[in-house]
Amino acid sequence: MARYLELSMDIFRYKKDIRKKIESFKPGTTIGFVPTMGALHKGHLSLIECSVKQDDVTIVSIFVNPAQFNDKNDFKNYPKTLDTDLKVLSNAKCDIVFVPSENEMYDKPDHRIFDFGNLGKVMEGKYRPGHFSGVAKIVTRLFDVINPHKAYFGLKDFQQFAIIKKLTEDLKLPVNIIPCPTVRENDGLAMSSRNSLLSAEERKHAALIYSTLFQAKKDSRKYTVGNIKKNVSNTLNEDPYITVEYFEIVNASNLAPVQSWNEPSVKVGCIAAKVGNVRLIDNINFNS
Ligand code: PAF
Repeated sequence: MARYLELSMDIFRYKKDIRKKIESFKPGTTIGFVPTMGALHKGHLSLIECSVKQDDVTIVSIFVNPAQFNDKNDFKNYPKTLDTDLKVLSNAKCDIVFVPSENEMYDKPDHRIFDFGNLGKVMEGKYRPGHFSGVAKIVTRLFDVINPHKAYFGLKDFQQFAIIKKLTEDLKLPVNIIPCPTVRENDGLAMSSRNSLLSAEERKHAALIYSTLFQAKKDSRKYTVGNIKKNVSNTLNEDPYITVEYFEIVNASNLAPVQSWNEPSVKVGCIAAKVGNVRLIDNINFNS
């Protein structure tokens, strides 16, 4: 830890130590929590900024959670940039960082299986079996350690946000789940830790994902839901670098597929696509 001494925040590796610190806070101290898997970018920073503004203490966790990866290679290749992350967090006025090991987080086997109904069966739930159970395992474990008043999640992971809201409602966890808007690069690409895995050429092509979603939103007045879905997939699949895994237009409150623009719901178009070997997700709200 000595080399981190110049950083103006506390860094903890063990649950008992961070708990002790949290227990030392004055009664009434509000805690904002931003769980991350590291490889921090401006999207994470916007979540931290929200917490720094709203809460007395901001805690960020960095833990690449093996339980949520259904593909071993994806886990192995996930970007890891701890030293830079810590500097970024210190500059962002984060107060406390929790960087546990796998043994520390999963000291006892966790056989819980979470059922989120339809929310967990569609889109990411269908293409990444077990993913959301893995997310729920780590998020509940982290909440248990940190006991935050508020926890901040980015809307790029739209389905994850819906699942975490349901999880906290079902388990009656005393935490407020705060949504934060997607942060984009200048060309529209949603910020993601995985963007750093793209080659320069792939990176250029990746911008087509958002421009296609944006065009779909403009076209939604002219075409049916079915036609918009086909257009988005066809446009992207024509690009030699891109393969669409799914593009669904769903009701934002229950993630059920939307059949017609006339349905009285907020409609969100959610996409997963591979650019080269890098799997990216994004979404667009058709109503806002
Ligand atoms: O969104 C993420 O980075 C992860 O799914 C989370 C919420 C940190 C859980 O590992």
